Amino acid sequence: MANLFDPIRIGGLNLPNRIIMAPLTRGRTGAAGIPGPLVAEYYAQRADAGLLISEATAINARGRGWRNAPGIYTADQIAGWRGVAEAVHARGGRMFMQIWHMGRTVLPEYAKGERPIAPSEVKAEGGMLNQEGARRPFVTPRAITIPEIKATIADFARAAQRAVEAGLDGVEIHAANNFLVDSFLRDGTNRRRDDYGGSIENRARFLIETVEAVSRAIGADRVGVRLSPTNSYFGISDSQPHITFPSVALLLNRFDLAYLHVLESEPEGGIARVAPLIRAAYQGTLLQNGGYEFESGNKAIDAGAADAIAFGTLFIANPDLVTRFKHHLPLAAPDPETFYTPGAAGYSDYPLVTAAA
Ligand SMILES: Cc1cc2nc3c(=O)[nH]c(=O)nc-3n(C[C@H](O)[C@H](O)[C@H](O)COP(=O)(O)O)c2cc1C
Repeated sequence: MANLFDPIRIGGLNLPNRIIMAPLTRGRTGAAGIPGPLVAEYYAQRADAGLLISEATAINARGRGWRNAPGIYTADQIAGWRGVAEAVHARGGRMFMQIWHMGRTVLPEYAKGERPIAPSEVKAEGGMLNQEGARRPFVTPRAITIPEIKATIADFARAAQRAVEAGLDGVEIHAANNFLVDSFLRDGTNRRRDDYGGSIENRARFLIETVEAVSRAIGADRVGVRLSPTNSYFGISDSQPHITFPSVALLLNRFDLAYLHVLESEPEGGIARVAPLIRAAYQGTLLQNGGYEFESGNKAIDAGAADAIAFGTLFIANPDLVTRFKHHLPLAAPDPETFYTPGAAGYSDYPLVTAAA
């Protein structure tokens, strides 16, 4: 029976197992977005995952709007990531950096008072914490111009280049969860009438041009893409996800990417999952994520529904998740109160079961 402990080659990397750490924003990199020794320690603790995917990391200042989340556009940020990559590699691990632009969810307070940029003027639902920790409602974004689209794509490529310079093994383009790339893909947030809106091919153009530029910068075998076809984070929606996302997967076939990563828990409203359609359309390596546990992960791999499984919340409280899976040891539950708070508490202080035994 094929399972999570079968080795797999992803891009140019040999992974000892198919247990992937999903990207998890943790807010431990301070106001300047610089990962320090605490962040290096946290990732190194989890280095026996087949692959670590970093928390979402901003490609430029304009795209950064999460309190104390990291960036990869200043010299100090790059130096900080170098320390993380070294710590992970010293423990024998492999790590991709997830790169994002937060699009319409960037509060003006993070952007010198400017309105956020998005495909169209469709406001996100809800709000965000500002840098001081106060909750603020989102504002209506303005439509990004074509020159700004080109410049943003160039910033994605530059970010990827810097991630590799810092020693990361590759990048994952964050095209999920309502952020800038995803808001182009889905028609609830993309009302454009130019080359970047309308047909699926047009809505996918921003993603495809980004994949092209990033692949040119670091090689497609070091590039992953993350999609979330059916979640409704911040009120995002698509009228035909079962057509949109398999079509996007078909468009991605022409790149020899390291992987495609699909986040899909049980879709709301009783609609069928889109992930199986993506699996059928996509010819490369597919990672699945969303509510998986050990048994269901093994089952998905054995059934051929996925090549590897990413685990999010399980990795927060179980730094040695791979060991616990292997020996069927009990799993610790994470504390949501400390998901995004500064410091070691609820971050790098979850005990290793091997240490406790
Ligand atoms: C604290 C927290 C932070 C997250 N940060 C990110 C992120 O930076 N990028 C991303 O794509 N998804 C992010 N997610 C979503 C997770 O990667 C994952 O998709 C989700 O937790 C579902 O998988 P799970 O059921 O294995 O936890 C986050 C989730 C949590 C709980």
